[in-house]
Amino acid sequence: MTMSYPIHRKINTIPSDLVSLDDYERLAIDFMPSPVYEYIRSGGGDETTLKQNRSAFSKISLYGRILVDFEQATTKTELLGQKFRHPVLLAPVAHQGLVHCEGEIATSEAAHAMETGLITSTLASKELEHIAEKTDSPKWFQLYFQSNRAETLALVRRAETAGYSALIVTLDVPINGLRNHIQRSGFQLPANLQSIQPSSRNLPPKELTPEQSIIFQGIMSEAPGWQDIHWLQEQTQLPLVIKGITHPQDARMAIDAGVKGIVVSNHGGRGLDSLPATIELLPIIRKAVGDDFTLLLDGGIRRGTDVFKALALGADAVLVGRPQVYALAIAGALGVAHMLKVLRHELEVTMALCGCPTLADINSDCLFSGV
Ligand code: FNR
Ligand code: LAC
Repeated sequence: MTMSYPIHRKINTIPSDLVSLDDYERLAIDFMPSPVYEYIRSGGGDETTLKQNRSAFSKISLYGRILVDFEQATTKTELLGQKFRHPVLLAPVAHQGLVHCEGEIATSEAAHAMETGLITSTLASKELEHIAEKTDSPKWFQLYFQSNRAETLALVRRAETAGYSALIVTLDVPINGLRNHIQRSGFQLPANLQSIQPSSRNLPPKELTPEQSIIFQGIMSEAPGWQDIHWLQEQTQLPLVIKGITHPQDARMAIDAGVKGIVVSNHGGRGLDSLPATIELLPIIRKAVGDDFTLLLDGGIRRGTDVFKALALGADAVLVGRPQVYALAIAGALGVAHMLKVLRHELEVTMALCGCPTLADINSDCLFSGV
């Protein structure tokens, strides 16, 4: 049985040199054992996609504008008919109990304080009901299909009863990517974090003959198919959003299946290594789904300018993953709230300097495309 990792003491005031999301990433290594840091930080394979998620943003330039009136300016928006104060949500990130005793409960308190949308992972270290109780901001539940429908449905019913207002169904990692960095670090998930929500996902694969592949006839035989999306639609009134789409054809199939939104995501570079950066994929997916369909993006969002660029290229909102765990590890709920405040502040500065008083003003004309 795996031991638990020690949880470091939190700081209770934010130091003056903690001013950007990258500062959180840099400092976080001092607030957790190195295998835990590697579990959070790393990407799949050679981390090509992980790096590209960041570098692709820096290749995009913006136009500045002057003398624009900001009297009525706002970052308010609506997604799936629900009201959001800002277009930045907390991505579902599993096992937050690795870095904080209260884990996702503290994250939810920060979401409440900052009026930020929260997405709770199926693999949260705390009960989804307790996480939901802490915030009045919109909260969505991220669903991993379980290996039988009864267990999946039980999770859906719990999420409905707890007040979650959408289901985010993550489909891009029916099997984990090659996690060489995590393997080298020796990281193992402690037993006390394994079973809060049911996770029959992690059951040992069924018996195979020597000719059969543990991947193809083993793990992939348990993976969901489109029929499961149709089935899920029939079970719940909650809007379904698919997370992990990287191909325009899958985006169209998702619409045909009746889902209400898509998150363009490569799982923060943790799945298939060699996928393009999500910001590179975004215009292709937007084109495939049309102007009015709800489209979100995650992967490498670290700056207000990144949020702005994603909106300019067709996203309605973005999700932020790793920085929330770094902030949680360093300063608990205060850290997550401060991290969100920094990002929102940066978005507002960017809007001000690009001459966009509302999110509706942000479009591809704001991007400098060279001569
Ligand atoms: C994740 N992600 C994730 N996604 C999901 O749908 N369910 C989950 O339980 C998890 N768990 C998880 C754990 C950790 C440690 C990380 C880093 C990521 C993926 C996450 O929702 C999101 O897609 C990426 O983290 C976005 O990229 P950035 O913001 O981390 O660059
Ligand atoms: C991860 C899983 C939990 O990315 O989604 O580690």
